[in-house]
Amino acid sequence: MKKNTIATLAAMKANGEKISQLTCYDYTTARLVDAAGINTVLVGDSLGMTMQGYEDTLPVTMEEMIVYGRSVGRACKDAFVILDMPFMSYQVSVQQAVENAGRFMKECRANAVKLEGGKTVCPQIQAITACGIPVCAHIGMTPQSVNSFGGFKVQGRGEANARRVLEDALAVEAAGAFMVVLECVPPKLAALITKKTKMITIGIGAGAGCDGQVLVYQDMLGLNGDFVPKFVKQFAHFGEAFQEAFGAYDAEVKAGTFPAPEQTYAKSDCSDEFLAQLDAEY
Ligand code: KIV
Repeated sequence: MKKNTIATLAAMKANGEKISQLTCYDYTTARLVDAAGINTVLVGDSLGMTMQGYEDTLPVTMEEMIVYGRSVGRACKDAFVILDMPFMSYQVSVQQAVENAGRFMKECRANAVKLEGGKTVCPQIQAITACGIPVCAHIGMTPQSVNSFGGFKVQGRGEANARRVLEDALAVEAAGAFMVVLECVPPKLAALITKKTKMITIGIGAGAGCDGQVLVYQDMLGLNGDFVPKFVKQFAHFGEAFQEAFGAYDAEVKAGTFPAPEQTYAKSDCSDEFLAQLDAEY
């Protein structure tokens, strides 16, 4: 497969080919995602929850994003890598947004950055894209605004809200975004936005009418325990498989059956005589 770029992704939209995206935060998983042929990888600030155990994404810092982002950047040969700008790394000023987007490109070899918000962040999108950095916008349910929404709730319900979400999409497009994540938006509204814009629309909880889909990889692999959001499909149940394997290891260590002779370096041992001499000397 060849490297996904802003041009190949735009061509996919133009040809009506669907685009796959998964979140990813570490080298090992990113290699597998890349080898599977996933078009775009998002180093999402969801890592605050999935990798760090916070309740929401707000505590995540630029320094943390850079550590995870670098690992993913090193692993992805073909996938297009997007790094998520964390809470308060772009809202304060346009200058702050440009500087931090630039850090992602220089320090992680990202292909694009993502930031949350509609009309209110258009000056930031305009300034970042003017530096030659592709921007993926993110509208609808934007997790960094969880406190304003009063929880992780569907957005764009009702006529006024639907209009607001559509206008946000058109505004971020006019500001220069090449892609937009539509999160927890009703499916017909998401399909309408997809029809009205040249941006690539990536849905999460936004129905099949988007140009592509994204899921958090722990969710789709069934690694997150019992809570499964409505929009998630579990493509595997690795949580149970992991726990079973950890349990089997625990049992073998405690029984003394691991390691077995084939997992040791027995051929490199000294003679029994020499070891007996060492035993006597010390
Ligand atoms: O942070 C993230 O992983 C995201 C996706 C869920 C779209 O923003």
